[in-house]
Parts: sequence; structure tokens; C-alpha cells
Amino acid sequence: MRRESDAVSFVGLGYVGLCTATVMASKGIKTIGVDVDEKRIEELGKGHPPFHEPQLEQMLKAAVRKKRMEFTTDASRVAQANTIFLTVGTPSRDDGSMDLAYVKKATQNVGSAIAESPSYHLVVIKSTVIPGTTIDVVRPVLEAASEKLIGPEVGLASNPEFLAEGSAIKGTLQPDKIVIGAFDTKSGATLTKLYRRIYSKINIPTIVTDPTTAETIKYASNAFLATRVSTINTIANICQRVPNADVETVAKAIGLDPRIGRLYLKAGPGYGGSCFHKDLQALISFSRSLNYDPLLLAAVEKVNQRQASEIVNLSKKLLGSLDNRRIAVLGLAFKKDTDDIREAPSLRVIDELLKNGASVSAYDPMALENARRVLPEKVELLPDAISCLKGADCCIVMTEWDEFRRLRPNDYKSSMRAPNIVDARRIIKRGDLNGFNYMAIGLGTSSP
Ligand code: UGA
Repeated sequence: MRRESDAVSFVGLGYVGLCTATVMASKGIKTIGVDVDEKRIEELGKGHPPFHEPQLEQMLKAAVRKKRMEFTTDASRVAQANTIFLTVGTPSRDDGSMDLAYVKKATQNVGSAIAESPSYHLVVIKSTVIPGTTIDVVRPVLEAASEKLIGPEVGLASNPEFLAEGSAIKGTLQPDKIVIGAFDTKSGATLTKLYRRIYSKINIPTIVTDPTTAETIKYASNAFLATRVSTINTIANICQRVPNADVETVAKAIGLDPRIGRLYLKAGPGYGGSCFHKDLQALISFSRSLNYDPLLLAAVEKVNQRQASEIVNLSKKLLGSLDNRRIAVLGLAFKKDTDDIREAPSLRVIDELLKNGASVSAYDPMALENARRVLPEKVELLPDAISCLKGADCCIVMTEWDEFRRLRPNDYKSSMRAPNIVDARRIIKRGDLNGFNYMAIGLGTSSP
């Protein structure tokens, strides 16, 4: 690919990098994807994504076919693009704080790549990074490696991402907002112009601010969402102990209040995924480093960790002791439409079931392969829901897959040893459940 004045480049082709790059390519923008993982690059060149995400494969294949996307391990190729997005991972250290090694390395590579380039390049930090990182860490590393002045010669901006797994493509095609934390006016104008091209037909609210505020917006967003989940789970746990109370009706009613709103009020087994827990831990650790103890955020995390026990306790209410009982776990992914099991509540629940002496069978439509890598051998993974239910004393529905909504009462009855169901996602219609012993998250009849 020769240097295209409007080309973009992505360094780090994980979830955020690949999904965003693919959507930009689908809008006709030349895109160069860089990653250190050779196998990944080879597969991407054939149009094969490394994870499941609705619509991604089809869109990626089309972009590769039309030669709008190229993939390489050679970081110096980023100099062919005038806007360079950094989308590398920001893993946690053991104390919850953020490890910026990949961000620093990627910045160094980008800096060296553009050192000889006569053109203006804009470097955009899309990875989730602690407030202050773009200015205090990226800027000096980029300046040293490129030997150029940030501002007039090289642009710099923070541009956090808000896409959610399972709806990443949809969310990127029509985001609810764009946040641009610009180092200077030129950086802000360059990025705004790129987004105007991408979203030429729709008007997306755009917040232009400084890099540190933009970085903070990302953490505030995940902190609020996680807080909502832990709040509704707390209400659910209270409802469960009050005969006849039902968290579903409570959530529906309070969601009608425009000050509250209806989203993220679904009680369940606790949040999972690669973001909420990691980002909360990073924010807590950052906040403590500033001598402020963020009590609320620590409580949000604690409620979430404990939620697995609430689910296991429901099965204990049905069975008494779990020792030598067979429990069928339906769903391993941290939510539907993804094969991702990172921080999945199913893992916490299975761990506790095993500690209580239960034997566990499990099934997931997409996450079996990933689950096999982390679950102990004694957890039996089965290829479909019916074989998973076979001989079970109790079934726990852990992920809200549509496939599980379609299971009929007879599917359970004909396979299980006893008709005990724990619905951790509230997906089973209660009218269907004649003859079942049914316990569900946030449902008062579940009280002892
Ligand atoms: C989350 C945010 O929603 C994105 O905006 C953000 O960009 C992303 O993190 C990130 O930082 O990269 P994600 O983790 O993919 O996205 O998934 P969510 O749909 O937010 O779900 C997170 C967890 O909360 C799931 O386990 C889900 O089951 C749970 N959840 C969500 C509930 O238990 N109840 C709800 O009402 C909503």
C-alpha cells in the first residue's frame, strides 16, 4: 500500500482494535493493522478473526477482499497512515494497578516509525489508560522516539472506546458519542474531521476535551455501569429474602423514572468480561495513589464477587447438601453472543460448586474451547444442552443465550434426574414451570 493521505493504522488487534479498524475499512478508509502475533496476522489476512463477534467475520472478509485492510507485524508500516490508533492491551498487575508496558513499547515503535516521515501524523490513544497517561507517559516516549515536537509536528489525542462485546460492530457503526481528548487544537480538528468522514450520514454527539478528562470519562462510564449492576444485584438479593418480591418488576418500575433509566438494571450472577473488574481495580488503585479511598467502588466489586455465592446458595436451597450431586451449568461465556470467558461469573460459580463437593457438567454454544483451557479436568464439558442436563440433580442457567430461552420444559424433564432449576438470568418463563422446583435470582419465592 502506498502512503494514502487518509489511511489509518491500528497498533494492537484485540477486540477494540480489530472491531474499530474493520468498521473504518467498511466505510472506505484504507486501514493498516499491526500486531506482534504472527499467527493472528496471518489469519486476519485471510479474513479470519481470532474471536467471535456478530457481523465481524463477514465485514472483515469483505474489507480484505476489497483490499481496504492490510495486516502486518511490521510496526514501521504505520508511517503510511496519517492517523495512528494505539489499541494495545493494558493488563492489570497483581495489586490491580495498570501495566503500561505494551503502551510504552507501541508508542516507542510508532515514534521510531514516524521519525523520518516528512508528514504530520496524529497518534491516538484508544487503549483504556489511567488519567494522565497520554500526557505523562505517552507524550515523552513519543517525543523521544520520534525526535519531533508534539503539537506542531506530531498530533496527540486520547479517544476512549465504549463498544461492548457481542454488539461491538453495531455499537461502532452507530456510537452514542465520540470523546476526543486533544493535546492541541490541530490534533482535535484532525480527529474530528476523520470521524465526520466515517459518520458522514449521522450526527454523533462529540465531546472535545483535554486528554486527561477523556481518559477519566472512560473510567467513569465503566464505574457507573458496574455500580448499576451491583446495585440491582443488591436489590435482587434483598427481594430473594422477601416472600413474593420480584426484582424484575422492581427494575421495570424504577427504570421508567427518567432519572434512573431502564438499561443495566438486569439482575444476574454478577458482571464479568475483560473490562469492568479490571477497570474498577485500576481506578481504585489509582485513586488510592492519590490518597483517596474510593469506598463505593470497592463495595461495587465486593458485591460482584459475592454474587456467585448467591447463585450457589439457591441450588443449596433446592438440594440441601451439594455433596456428590450433579449440577448442570448452562452457559459459560460472561454474556451471550461472545466466546469470551474472562472474569465470567460461571467460573466463580463452578469453583464454588466443586468446593461444595458437587460434580459439574457444563455447556456453552460458543465458549467451550476457551473454557476447557481454564476449567479443571473434572468439569465435564458437553457438546449440547441436552447431554449437559442428562442425569443432573439441578440445572443452573448462567448465560442468557437465546438457545437456552428456547429449551422446553420437556427438555429438562426428560434429561434430568430431578426437576430443579436455578435461573441466574431470569430467562425462563415461569408459566412453563409446572412440576419444577424453580429458584431465580431476585425472586422472593426463593426465600427459605
Ligand atoms: C463494557 C461496557 O459496556 C462498554 O461500554 C465498554 O467499552 C467495555 O466494557 C470496555 O471497557 O471495553 P462489556 O464488558 O463488553 O462492555 O459488556 P457489558 O455488556 O457492559 O456487560 C458486562 C457485564 O455486566 C456482563 O457480565 C453482563 O452480563 C453484566 N450485566 C450487564 C448485568 O449483569 N446486568 C445488566 O443489566 C447489564
